[in-house]
Amino acid sequence: MKYQELAKEALKAREHAYAPYSGFAVGAALLTRSGKTYWGCNIENAAFTPSNCAERTAFFEAVKLGERDFAAIAVAGGKQEEVLPLRRCTPCGVCLQVMLEFCDPDELDVILVRDEMEYEVHKLRELVPFGFGKKNLSE
Ligand code: THU
Repeated sequence: MKYQELAKEALKAREHAYAPYSGFAVGAALLTRSGKTYWGCNIENAAFTPSNCAERTAFFEAVKLGERDFAAIAVAGGKQEEVLPLRRCTPCGVCLQVMLEFCDPDELDVILVRDEMEYEVHKLRELVPFGFGKKNLSE
């Protein structure tokens, strides 16, 4: 799948964001190595801490269905009223940690979407160069 299509899916996922407290809407589209996509949006809560980010919503949906092998995740986020192109939205530390659990940081592409045709591609390693993962526990 082209990253342009994945970017489009992230923008579409963003329309489902439930963000009445921050007013910041985020969508994510996760691509498996086998070519399937799973999407997620942020889902906030009046008690704040139960809120979930778009990236984790996508990951948990995919992992729940047995997926373990991921190629890329596209993220599109910005203020609800923001018009395209968005400013780039980088995943939070908690989401990066979830990505590290399931993905090789030198393999996973993290796509920061501004618009369907406008996005940056980074390896997870660039966003979290010294992350803690399973390897640390077994070394
Ligand atoms: N958020 C995400 O869903 N993903 C990100 O990459 C950054 C932040 C959400 C969390 C919260 O609902 C809102 O955006 C403002 O932080």
